[in-house]
Amino acid sequence: MKIQPVKGTRDFYPPQMAVRNFIVDGWKASSIRNGFVEYDGPIFEHLQMYQVKSGDEIVEQLFNFTDRGGRHLAIRPEITPTLARMVNKQINALPRPIKWFSVPRLCRAERPQKGRLREFFQWNIDIIGVEDVLADAEVVYCSLDYLRSVGLTSGDVVAKISSRRLLAALLKNIGIAEDKLESLYPILDKKTRIPVEAFVEMLGKEIDSTDTVQTVLKLMDVHLVDEIPDIVKLNEEAKVSLDELIQVFAYLRTMGVEDWCRFDMSIVRGLAYYTGMVFEIHDKAGDLRAVCGGGRYDNLLSDFGGPKVTATGMGMGDAVLEILLREKGLLRDDSLDIQKLDYFVACLDADLLDKAVNITAQLREKGHASNFSYKTGALKKQMKVADSMNAAKCIILGAEFKDSKQLVVKDMQTGEQELLDAESLFKS
Ligand code: HAM
Repeated sequence: MKIQPVKGTRDFYPPQMAVRNFIVDGWKASSIRNGFVEYDGPIFEHLQMYQVKSGDEIVEQLFNFTDRGGRHLAIRPEITPTLARMVNKQINALPRPIKWFSVPRLCRAERPQKGRLREFFQWNIDIIGVEDVLADAEVVYCSLDYLRSVGLTSGDVVAKISSRRLLAALLKNIGIAEDKLESLYPILDKKTRIPVEAFVEMLGKEIDSTDTVQTVLKLMDVHLVDEIPDIVKLNEEAKVSLDELIQVFAYLRTMGVEDWCRFDMSIVRGLAYYTGMVFEIHDKAGDLRAVCGGGRYDNLLSDFGGPKVTATGMGMGDAVLEILLREKGLLRDDSLDIQKLDYFVACLDADLLDKAVNITAQLREKGHASNFSYKTGALKKQMKVADSMNAAKCIILGAEFKDSKQLVVKDMQTGEQELLDAESLFKS
């Protein structure tokens, strides 16, 4: 019986693992550069945790199961609820502000498509306990800081920024009831991904008046804050949230990434828990799904039984990012090291295998990444193996070195060989 991998999952052979490591190492370096510390949680949680506040879309995509004790569990589709649970548990002991990052493996039962898988990795950065929108701006900045560090420019990607608080105020102003908002957000979030007729039809199911549907449509197309009052009158709440958003852009200007950012009312986000600034980073050509998304979620900790503590953050998946980096020529498989050795010990004579194994063991003890050749014999073949393992140096053991205390060490880059005292090699 030939068993196939499950659709939407990936096998990470060493070359693919090198790509994943390149991405994850960059995420970690950016997190540390921006002052975040790492955390992680379990890969599965109580099913209920995702039913509380993530929204129907996530619930429909859950891989859930019942354990032998009858507990209803789910594999994590995101880590934000876990983060909220963990922070709540130690809320009085944790020094604030909390700036944490993680790179969890997540599973969502999605229909696999370009950039969307059923198992993926997602970089998360979150700032908890800072009310000022400076924290929102810092989350956007840190996401851009990573993308810039791997070679992308403001010509390649754009951070589209909006505010759920502003949107809620405007929608209420045009007569949409507060309790309708939560079911409306996932629909509005789909606007750029579905044909306009389908979008209008979905809106029509939630909103009775066709005039109101048309106003919502106009609102979703706004790219300049000044245009909003032409469509909807600003009430006090809308004014306050608009000022907040303008302040986010002011901070982003101070951080020097203004060119990468723009206001876009169609950014709503599918998840239910966002309460303030929301953003997504997209490829400028608009061919791909969002590279990342996030925003402020001030109620999630209290929704999970904790105190009212504000929070903001984002998640960036590896799948769309990898496609984008390849498209832009910023990720070439031949530029990534699958393996890197300090030494390869080539053994030309079967009698010397013991010596080769012993030398390798001593090198390893000293912390040098080293391999020996399992097969003794022809030098040319062994050099090929050393090359394929990306060895910096090769120790060549020929018959004449059986009782010698000296070793031939070849520099694989220059091709130069030197005779070195074995003891001196193991000292360093
Ligand atoms: P999200 O929008 O569901 O947000 O996911 C964020 C990113 O994860 C997406 O932009 C995409 O790059 C990636 N992603 C999501 N689903 C998939 C998938 N099926 N396959 C591949 N990549 C995917 C969240 O998850 C929030 N918890 C982010 C957050 C953190 N908000 C605040 N803090």
